[in-house]
Amino acid sequence: FVHQLADESVGMDELLISPLRLEPQPSLPLPADLYGAKRANSQGLDLAVASMREPLLAALASTPVPAVAEASTAEVDSASAQAVAAFAGWNHTPVAERAATLRRAADALQQQLPRFCALLLKEAHKTWGDAVSEVREAVDFLRFYANDAERVMAPTTLPGPTGESNVLRLEGRGAWVCISPWNFPLAIFMGQVAAALATGNTVLAKPAEQTPAVALEAVKLLHAAGVPANVLQLLHGPGETVGAALVAQPGIAGVVFTGSTQVAKIIQRALAAKDGAIVPLIAETGGINAMLVDSTALPEQVADAVVQSAFRSAGQRCSALRLLCLHEGIADHVIEMIQGAAKELVAGSPAALATDLGPVIDAEAFEGIGRHLTRLHAEAKPLLPAAAPATTLPNLIPPQMFEVKAIADVKAEIFGPVLQVVRWGGDPMDVIRQINALGYGLTLGIQTRIDSRAQALAAAARVGNVYVNRNMIGAVVGVQPFGGEGLSGTGPKAGGPNYLHRFCAEQTLTINT
Ligand code: NAD
Ligand code: ALA
Repeated sequence: FVHQLADESVGMDELLISPLRLEPQPSLPLPADLYGAKRANSQGLDLAVASMREPLLAALASTPVPAVAEASTAEVDSASAQAVAAFAGWNHTPVAERAATLRRAADALQQQLPRFCALLLKEAHKTWGDAVSEVREAVDFLRFYANDAERVMAPTTLPGPTGESNVLRLEGRGAWVCISPWNFPLAIFMGQVAAALATGNTVLAKPAEQTPAVALEAVKLLHAAGVPANVLQLLHGPGETVGAALVAQPGIAGVVFTGSTQVAKIIQRALAAKDGAIVPLIAETGGINAMLVDSTALPEQVADAVVQSAFRSAGQRCSALRLLCLHEGIADHVIEMIQGAAKELVAGSPAALATDLGPVIDAEAFEGIGRHLTRLHAEAKPLLPAAAPATTLPNLIPPQMFEVKAIADVKAEIFGPVLQVVRWGGDPMDVIRQINALGYGLTLGIQTRIDSRAQALAAAARVGNVYVNRNMIGAVVGVQPFGGEGLSGTGPKAGGPNYLHRFCAEQTLTINT
């Protein structure tokens, strides 16, 4: 019924959302983007994938996953020294030239969409729909930060007394360490790197150890577009060794990190313990993301949004729905609809076009989620039947849903297709207060037909992204700046107008004329 719902409620024109993703390319015409701000529905992605079926399948057959070598301590030290030495030259390169380089990379990535989709599928087990969406997001990041660097870095003349000129100007800070997760191995990797490069910084990039090949190909593409080799260097290896060694380097000017809250705090402590300059950290981390549904909400819309938000990408999105707070008056009806929709989802091989959710990233993640499931089976009421695995594919977890007694019972981010449901009555503001008390602050869904209530609840919520009457995943670059607060991160928001400032040093130049 998810597909049916999309047919009935959204016309094709309404689905054309992100102008950044609509630029046609002569050699590989991309279908209009159907995965946008208003509705990231499965039908839209099915159509996008179906229209590229042949090039995607050809790329799957012809794209190898290259092996990579782990960086040694000496290589980390040497790369760091090179990044520090290369800073002045790149920082003094005109911003228009840096932006043009990133735009060339965006064009090349758009041309190579099928190849990068195939890599994402093979290395990160992305479904075709998620892979297409991710490549487009990476293209969007490149273009958005290229454009925004030109805006942000233009000197600003400030008003002052006669006989004096005051100008505020921005430049890069130095060598940045960019540490990224496996769940968006291209888009988040590219977003961090593009932001740092656009603003004149040099980069030491450390991708997740689970997805090194995607990062390697992304860096090759950036080098081919004109980013000098010593301006962007790639260091592979485990976070605890290579990541920690990079953070400990004496000359670095900043760290941008996306990953778990726990590792963000390790990095924050390591930076605080260093001698010398205060090194800024931008951290974007996890969340226990809730959706509050009141008794006026449309059940079909809620069920569609829940299934997309909780189970798409096998729940491996920081934005994913973890905790559904249903008004007691409609809870049974909505749960029944979600059960019906979840049963229709196909969990299987990402290579199959019909697959809705593929395996989780690796055996370690599978076992970690499994421990949570064992606990939930003991403590909570299962709402979806324990599905027999349809295939022998390892690390596959079909959608899971449990009813818990209280919001406070949900203590950890379970990074997989696992949804917890709680019923509420009384004042919805109390529900928001309990959600706030969890300490995270990434995404929140609100489903209500009372506009004033949606506004009041959003204002009271301590979260970075609020989605009303739709799903709560798939923030579009430049349209829905993304990022949280509290345990979910430091800000600024990726893909937003304030992001690049944090990568810059500011100088006010006052001249007595
Ligand atoms: P993770 O924290 O385990 O790893 C992230 C990166 O940090 C990896 O590259 C890893 O090698 C590195 N790392 C690990 N230990 C390190 C250390 N001591 N020093 C330096 N680097 C170290 O996270 P993950 O499992 O890769 O990703 C999943 C997590 O990321 C989830 O919590 C998810 O919510 C979060 N996430 C957040 C966002 C966001 O935008 N807020 C986006 C995607 C993922
Ligand atoms: N930016 C990603 C989303 O919004 C994580 O789903």
